[in-house]
Amino acid sequence: MQKFTQSPTDPEFVQNPYPFYERLRAAGDFAFWDDYNLTCASSHQAVSALLRDRRFGREVPEDKRKPIPDHLTPFYDVEAHSMLELERPRHPRLRGLVMRAFTSRRIKGLAPEIEAITHDLIDNFPSGEFDLLTAFAQKIPVIIICRLLGVPETMWRELLEWSNAMVMMYQAGRTRDMEDKAVRATEEFVAFMREYVEKRRATPGDDLISALISAEEEGTKLSTDELITTCILLLNAGHEATVHSIGNAVKTILEHGAQAHCTTEGIETLSEETLRFDPPLHMFTRWCYEEAEICGHTFQPGDEVALLLGSANRDGATWKNGESFQPMRDVQTNTSFGAGAHFCIGAPLARMELQIALPILFSRCPDLALATTPEYADIYHFHGLKALPVTAT
Ligand code: HEM
Repeated sequence: MQKFTQSPTDPEFVQNPYPFYERLRAAGDFAFWDDYNLTCASSHQAVSALLRDRRFGREVPEDKRKPIPDHLTPFYDVEAHSMLELERPRHPRLRGLVMRAFTSRRIKGLAPEIEAITHDLIDNFPSGEFDLLTAFAQKIPVIIICRLLGVPETMWRELLEWSNAMVMMYQAGRTRDMEDKAVRATEEFVAFMREYVEKRRATPGDDLISALISAEEEGTKLSTDELITTCILLLNAGHEATVHSIGNAVKTILEHGAQAHCTTEGIETLSEETLRFDPPLHMFTRWCYEEAEICGHTFQPGDEVALLLGSANRDGATWKNGESFQPMRDVQTNTSFGAGAHFCIGAPLARMELQIALPILFSRCPDLALATTPEYADIYHFHGLKALPVTAT
């Protein structure tokens, strides 16, 4: 297996990781990424196979768990109940309970609200140059996830701050300062959710938290800690990636002059292509639980492998001219939302937000243009913009 060196904090790489991925794929389905000390799956075939193979999973095997430093305990206490970090038997139980409350009727019911919020935000766009990320992309997902969960919308600033601080725990080369901020954010988030869950327990509403509580009370044993972690996971996962999928999509559409395809009829194909071309999440890992051969490579129990979603999405073996953005490309399964047991629960919601918000944005702002070339934030796994400076006269 070929060995590659590439610092995940190199500014040039963070801005554009795709040439590196191309080199990895040219070396085969798997490569060794020296800086992470990890085997990486870069081809679509290998990433798809690993996502679906139950001999691999996200939960860290017992003999691979590292002692948790005292100062990080509050963060890992929350993560310990996260369905994203668990496998059987806890994962299907938690996921099943959430899916019971996260119904498609509940999600579809949010469509008129997404439409109204989109119009409202556009009505309030400032004149001249402004940041579309904060004025638009950030607001829609955070308001919608608050409404879905029934959390007061006035909390959006705190939720954004907590979530941004917690995400830094996944940053390569994170500092002690980042860890302290993440822990503080976790403690505040947990305290807020604990109080909020108790309120909803006393006075249930027509929201997801109340539905999760009642699923718990039907004897399916969602503990208070699991409930709190699930709410935090939904709030974090529910907006962080969606914000960046909107930001990356607007940037891609403007850079490629694809506005004309951003219509009610064309948006499904176009938005899938933006998700394939420049997804917001680039790397997830899996642990091997029993010996398995994937694309000719044999994994042993205890091996860890990184799945490079952003690389799989550009694989020319699956997509003709995978490196080119084609607004009318036939929709094919991209790996942006994962696949298999951990397939993103929020994919229908995120897709709906993109498919409603983007056509309204481009029909109401036909002159929308990039003011400068936008830069990506310096965190490799979360591939999203720092800001999206535009003009919309
Ligand atoms: C899982 C991507 C939006 C909730 C995942 C995974 C990916 C992903 C790749 C699987 C990770 C793995 O296999 O290791 C995205 C993207 C989004 C998005 C690209 C936006 C464009 C959302 C939203 C929600 C959400 C809106 C909730 C409201 C979750 C949850 C999981 C998950 C709970 C864990 C599922 C499990 O472990 O069974 N997401 N997501 N996501 N996502 Fe999303």
